[in-house]
Amino acid sequence: MSKSGSAQSSGEGEVITILLVDDIPDTLENIKKLISFEQDMKVVGTARTGSEGVVLAKELRPNIIIMDINMPDMDGIQATTLITEAVPTIAVIMMSVQNDPDYLRRAMLAGARNFLTKPIEMDELYNTIRTVHARNKPIAAQYAAAAVSASELRPSAARRDSGGRSGHIITIYSPQGGVGTTTLATSVASGLMKEGSKVLLIDADLQFGDVGIMLNLQSQSTMVELIPDVDDLDTELFENIVATHDSGLKVLLGPSRPEFSEEVEKNPEALSQIIKKIAGSYDFVVIDTSTRLDELLLSLCDISSKVIMVCVPTIPSVKNARLVLDLFDKLKYPLDKVMLTVNRVPDDRQAKRAGVSLEKISDFLKRPVVAAIPANELMVNRAITKAVPVVASERDKTKSPIKELLDLADAIYEELEGAKEAEVEPEEDIRKQTRTSGLRLRLGR
Ligand SMILES: Nc1ncnc2c1ncn2[C@@H]1O[C@H](COP(=O)(O)OP(=O)(O)O)[C@@H](O)[C@H]1O
Ligand SMILES: [Mg+2]
Repeated sequence: MSKSGSAQSSGEGEVITILLVDDIPDTLENIKKLISFEQDMKVVGTARTGSEGVVLAKELRPNIIIMDINMPDMDGIQATTLITEAVPTIAVIMMSVQNDPDYLRRAMLAGARNFLTKPIEMDELYNTIRTVHARNKPIAAQYAAAAVSASELRPSAARRDSGGRSGHIITIYSPQGGVGTTTLATSVASGLMKEGSKVLLIDADLQFGDVGIMLNLQSQSTMVELIPDVDDLDTELFENIVATHDSGLKVLLGPSRPEFSEEVEKNPEALSQIIKKIAGSYDFVVIDTSTRLDELLLSLCDISSKVIMVCVPTIPSVKNARLVLDLFDKLKYPLDKVMLTVNRVPDDRQAKRAGVSLEKISDFLKRPVVAAIPANELMVNRAITKAVPVVASERDKTKSPIKELLDLADAIYEELEGAKEAEVEPEEDIRKQTRTSGLRLRLGR
């Protein structure tokens, strides 16, 4: 085991700090040499066994670990599991010589972010390190932000604040674009409008929100106007700003032009403060989001009782979902808060075999798929043309994907309205504490 210099997180003029773990000295030397040719990366330590790797990872806190999968004593999978649990800001790249078909799956389950096959190619090594680091940076920053965030909100706080209605908040999110997040948000919002429920749909995709286009709503007023008055929000002003869809669905539109989004973004807590204040005037508040995993998103997820995580059955989509779900786990979101939904599930057998099966997705993501929404390009596009949510686009509610989308809305309705009585506040307090202090501990703050 060896270390050199300090492995402090890189700042300006960034140098990516790297720990190498491999039982073969030649491999360690080779990779170290290759990395030494590059200005923007540095090997700060090497370990010859998995358990040495774990010790050094905790001590050095490098940005990246390149880890061999096969080692005596503790193997790379086990070491990765321990490391990602102890220091979630580190991204592990797994390295293997063998053609073990199961290794990719096992490595992913352990929390590895990417893979290298031996013998290591120079360009592939550099590219993988830079890509993994670039992707990991915002995630690592979120851990830091979450650890120091003073304003932790509980979903039930929204309910207590203002009168009348249940005010359940539901955020719909996917780290990948074009998977159907907005399609699901409009349909879930529409599906929740039953038994006299009042529903508000919020377009929090600040730069390229599509809710207004999909439902053909134009409004002179958007959430941007609410931001200056966040501390002194007037519910009457709010009601004047929301647009109303023909179906009765209320919609708070996002900034009308991408450049106005800055107003909302520079105060990432403001939108959730506003939502908390007005939630009690609605039974359900459904929030459509962009792909950005930033402070705004986390503040929305924090105040939500449910987060609908959307992915499609492809490897990149499932892998990205895994990163986000890992973060949610580390943030101690209760398991039943996050509902995993797979959209655009192909129905014919052949196509099914080409994609990733629902069982595999559930296995990778370590949680059940609560809704599988079949692909039906024609119906989805027809709904957009008619400017209505998919679930409202046809009379026959037994057709796919209308049926599955309504089932999803019903499941959310049942879980939230059914569970209302059973809510136990003190437990949430404990959860909140563990979340903050747990993260602080792990991040060494
Ligand atoms: N279940 C589905 N079957 C077929 N196409 C779909 C389905 N859901 C969404 N789409 C299509 O995917 C595209 C992106 O949808 P959108 O809801 O805007 O995704 P996102 O908000 O994730 O970017 C749209 O063109 C839409 O027609
Ligand atoms: Mg969208």
